[in-house]
Amino acid sequence: MSYNKTPSITAETINQKVRMFTYEPCGGIVRHAQRLEQEIYENPGSLPFQEIIYCNLGNPQALGQRPIKFFREGVRSLREAVADGIAARDGFPSIPDSIFLTDGASSAINMMMQILIRSHEDGILCPLPEYPLYSGSIILHGGTMVPYNLTEDSGWGLEIFEVKSCLEEARASGLTIRAMVVINPGNPTGQVLSMTNQEEIVEFCRKEGVVILADELYQENVYTENKRFNSFKKVARSLGYDHKEISIVSFHSVSMGYYGECGRRGGYMEICGFGADVIDEIYKLASLTISPNIAGQILISLVMDPPKLGDGAFEIFMAEKEETCSSLLKRAKTLHKAFSSLEGVSCNKFEGAMYLYPRLQLPPSAIKAAEKERVNPDVFYVHRLSATGIVVVPGSGFDPVSGKSHFRCTILPGEDKITAMVPRLRAFHEAFMDEFRS
Ligand SMILES: Cc1ncc(COP(=O)(O)O)c(C=O)c1O
Repeated sequence: MSYNKTPSITAETINQKVRMFTYEPCGGIVRHAQRLEQEIYENPGSLPFQEIIYCNLGNPQALGQRPIKFFREGVRSLREAVADGIAARDGFPSIPDSIFLTDGASSAINMMMQILIRSHEDGILCPLPEYPLYSGSIILHGGTMVPYNLTEDSGWGLEIFEVKSCLEEARASGLTIRAMVVINPGNPTGQVLSMTNQEEIVEFCRKEGVVILADELYQENVYTENKRFNSFKKVARSLGYDHKEISIVSFHSVSMGYYGECGRRGGYMEICGFGADVIDEIYKLASLTISPNIAGQILISLVMDPPKLGDGAFEIFMAEKEETCSSLLKRAKTLHKAFSSLEGVSCNKFEGAMYLYPRLQLPPSAIKAAEKERVNPDVFYVHRLSATGIVVVPGSGFDPVSGKSHFRCTILPGEDKITAMVPRLRAFHEAFMDEFRS
């Protein structure tokens, strides 16, 4: 079997528009200065000066005063905290230089699409159902989304031979497949991928020279006893593949988990398996926005380096975390039970993330009524449901092609709200089914 051993992502094969511009305010000289600064920090007195004076940025703080030193050193120590947290989580090393702190995961995902997509002929494998940030970002950056299906019957896992045939079909039509997006735990589908699936994905992407874009935002939202979160990097390293053999970008954010701080816009991406020249280009691209917000940077470092046994904050932190996680599970169970008991509704197991994704088997006359209104049946149902004050998202917003009807419901409203919502939902559903049953 011949494997594609050449790294597919090099400075020559990224979006060349990224290479065409320079951004010297944060360019090579500044990176050199940062290395010197690190040298001063690690070996005081090793250089003929004690500090770097940054006059490169049109940033008032940077020009006049010491905060820039704090800022630079601070940022490195936050990246160190993130890298240490990843290493402790995975049991494999992580280095601060592979960490990019970002304003949430969305900006990191967009940045990677910008790097990877050169033209419409570049394809990105993307799950269906998917979180539509991915399709949106692929379209905005001028690439082609190559969908692969998650299968409801296997708990929203995937069949790797089907992914392979999607890739082959796309290649036969002239596309170059650059990356495969995997959202684990899943949004909107709420599954935690099996280890077998993860290993298959790693083997597949390695052989095909495809980058894994691992959306790992819900890594702390796992509620099932028999599965746990494993990062794709950990799976690859456990299989014995190092950074020369497979490229993986992992995204994480302060928006999810038990912390749920969406508005703070903190996140990171860990980039493994790209050459230094590509990292330089990504650094340049990231520098166009000067810096992600400091509060978000601090928060993501705290998320990855939470209080430990013996720390003053430990007891309260653990109690709050436990309370939040067990309440989320309770809410999910209540909703799961309610959805599963409705006529014509089946609901996936709740394993992770923050969503249930029930399937609707609507009566033919409801489907006809939807056709008459020129909307998908799931939209028709969800629109009617919204008239009772319950708002969920129609599944066609996550998968416009399957033709099946689902809706996505978060488990986030408080326990009392969920308890109050269930009888309303049941009354609505029964009336809906009675209306359209004949
Ligand atoms: C799967 C997934 N990826 C990415 C994001 C974007 O997160 P952020 O708020 O960090 O930009 C979200 C937000 O809901 C998400 O659910």
